Amino acid sequence: SEQWLDAGTVDEIPADDVVGLAVGGKDLALYRVDGEVFATDNICTHGHARLCDGFLDGHEIECPLHQGKFDIRNGKAMCAPLTEDVKTYPIRIEDGRVFVGF
Ligand code: FES
Repeated sequence: SEQWLDAGTVDEIPADDVVGLAVGGKDLALYRVDGEVFATDNICTHGHARLCDGFLDGHEIECPLHQGKFDIRNGKAMCAPLTEDVKTYPIRIEDGRVFVGF
């Protein structure tokens, strides 16, 4: 990635849950699953819903609006009504801080 932006500490992301955070002027969803951190765009590719308001089950985030599901590891749209994957971002952890690659 060309630049890595500080997205706070790992501890600020609740375990096995998701938070919404503005990083580099973008609305991102940050996830922590089994101690590993993942990032996707926060806005669903189907409509105007924020994935951070959805339900995280393992590595799948369920959109709060029409229950579409994405795999947070690769952004893949897993079921209807989704037709478009969600963008994911690489993560680097340094001294307990999360850096998102853009
Ligand atoms: Fe997310 Fe429709 S807005 S599934």
